[in-house]
Amino acid sequence: MVGQTAAKNLQLKMEQPKMNVQKLIDTAKTLVASDKGLLAIDESSPTCNKRFAKLGIPQTEECRRVYRELIITTPSLCKFISGVILYDETIRQQKKDGTPFVQVITEAEIIPGIKVDIGAKDMAGHPGETITEGLDGLRDRLQEYAQMGARFAKWRAVLTINTNIPSVGSIEANAQALARYAALCQEAGLVPIVEPEVLMTGNHTLEQCGEVTAKVLQTVFQQLYTQRVMLEGMILKPNMVLPGLACPQQATVEEVADATVQCLLRSVPAAVPGIAFLSGGQSGELASAHLNAMNLRFKARLPWALTFSFGRAIQQPALELWQGKESNVSAAQQVLLHRAKCNGSARQGEYKAEMEWTKV
Ligand code: 13P
Repeated sequence: MVGQTAAKNLQLKMEQPKMNVQKLIDTAKTLVASDKGLLAIDESSPTCNKRFAKLGIPQTEECRRVYRELIITTPSLCKFISGVILYDETIRQQKKDGTPFVQVITEAEIIPGIKVDIGAKDMAGHPGETITEGLDGLRDRLQEYAQMGARFAKWRAVLTINTNIPSVGSIEANAQALARYAALCQEAGLVPIVEPEVLMTGNHTLEQCGEVTAKVLQTVFQQLYTQRVMLEGMILKPNMVLPGLACPQQATVEEVADATVQCLLRSVPAAVPGIAFLSGGQSGELASAHLNAMNLRFKARLPWALTFSFGRAIQQPALELWQGKESNVSAAQQVLLHRAKCNGSARQGEYKAEMEWTKV
């Protein structure tokens, strides 16, 4: 077994007896296995409230609980979803009948995970840029989440493209925070999802996004090496390489697939088991089409699995259909499952636009 030999070698080499290397490798592999991907439902309460407000849904803790219950109780979700990312409020919640969400997810044969950063804050001396916070006390928080049943974690860094940004200072500080978070996760037995997001906002070109994303990823991996993160026991969650939303020259699906895969091949070591993209505000259909084109054109030649860890690109149609009404729960679950299925197909390069007219 290659995995087991690799695990033993790593265990000896790293001399970190506390770290369960094989468990991390197994969890990471399971998260990116076959035709599955991750579902991010880890919006902070203010972000979730903003999305509710746009649709006239009451912004209460109970409504957020009901909405997350709708998602995690979707029948057959585990056919396409390997892991669900929760938020601190959500991981402590229960179904209406009192069953803890973590138990509901685990019994559905899905792995529960948890967002552990506390947000991107304005960075001192760097106007227009942010640094993600949350390292203080993280070791204790990770231990608590692990005891609650989480098996992986997520931390998101945010980089913006504009005149003279992102700066070296912001790229390096965010990369170092990601690496320190990842090392602490592995110590706690949690697989780190390392998410450096280059935003779509701006008028930059596809090429500029590719250059910035490559620089960011290369800096992140330098820091991951420096902080002794075991690459076999982590997952990268990057943005796709896309032109800015305000760029007059938009790109075809194939151009996005080519630019993204080229950037990743130049920047991501083969030891990483999987790359799970964020959707970043793309529509559900477009995010599926981009992931599909990458797998269709390159899957056989790539060292890592290419999958999804979408939030809005899976949730948004279901949220719009639900509208906070009990009578819409079942229809919203069908729409959610449909998007998950489309992305499952995109992992195989088998997604087709016609699927959008034939619901699950
Ligand atoms: P989106 O897919 O909506 O970008 O969300 C993914 C995520 O987890 C952002 O941190």
